[in-house]
Amino acid sequence: MKMDNPPTTSMVSLTIDGSQANITLTRPDKFNAMNVELIQELIALLQWTAERSAGAMDALHDENNQPYLRTVVLRGEGKHFCAGADINMMRDAGANTPEENRADSERLDRLFNGLWSHPCFTIAAVQGVALGGGAGLISCCDYVVATPNIRIALSEGKLGILPAVIGPYVYRRLGSATFRRLAMQAGRVGAEEALRIGFIEELVDTKEGMETAIEAIVNEVMTTGPSAVTLAKELTLGFDRWTQSDEALRNWTLDFTSRMRGSKEGQEGLSSFLEKRPPEWKPSKEE
Ligand code: COA
Repeated sequence: MKMDNPPTTSMVSLTIDGSQANITLTRPDKFNAMNVELIQELIALLQWTAERSAGAMDALHDENNQPYLRTVVLRGEGKHFCAGADINMMRDAGANTPEENRADSERLDRLFNGLWSHPCFTIAAVQGVALGGGAGLISCCDYVVATPNIRIALSEGKLGILPAVIGPYVYRRLGSATFRRLAMQAGRVGAEEALRIGFIEELVDTKEGMETAIEAIVNEVMTTGPSAVTLAKELTLGFDRWTQSDEALRNWTLDFTSRMRGSKEGQEGLSSFLEKRPPEWKPSKEE
């Protein structure tokens, strides 16, 4: 790992445990509502961790044998995961000049896009509410584990605004009809419905159960090639954005397949299978 230190933060914390980064929102007295400072810090940590990802570096370790990152776990300290964008911030932005108002939205856009396009496998651990921007955060993650007390909402409509900046990510997670319905209803979705409509992947009974579930999914992802994880996101985005012919799409998937087979990681994965040995990215039992 590059030896520079992570950005200094006060409303978001970062710990590194081998190839796992743990990012926690630490503004529990405001239920982790995202003000300018928190958003800026989160953007900085997402960028710092993305630059040190194994998938993006196409390497497992740096020159000092420090592991590059493969998973990011996002948590919210306290009773609630995240009460969304700070309502004071949004009201003030609305009263500012159009340029300042726009800059404020651009900051939010950088945050959600940074999480959505993060080269690591991202996991959200959710308890309590995930409202507005909080629902946006979980929509950007690859795997969401939650406790039964969750309440997720695209609550913006209740404030007379819209889930626009988070929209593309929620839409991609839930699909058109459910996104549209929830943007209009703006009501809270409980655990059972969240699981059914695909807002979350897994429900656990307790906070301890949350850590066990996170460990299990991390262990699973650690046996997948890190570049396969990173490029699966590029592949999906290609499908999401496809505007050309079906034939061109099929050609694009052929190019993608050839590229992966010929890659360093592809060669290692295919050879290790044939040689009946674990691939180099699979942690040994002791690690
Ligand atoms: N922005 C700014 N401050 C917020 C906030 C937000 N999104 N959500 C909560 N807070 C603040 C409250 O103003 C309050 O501050 P105070 O102690 O200085 O009065 C504190 O957090 C506690 O909130 P409170 O409403 O008193 O607690 P509660 O237990 O009754 O309700 C919530 C908790 C999260 C359900 C409720 O605060 C809520 O609905 N918040 C709005 C969330 C929202 O709509 N977000 C989407 C924005 S697009």
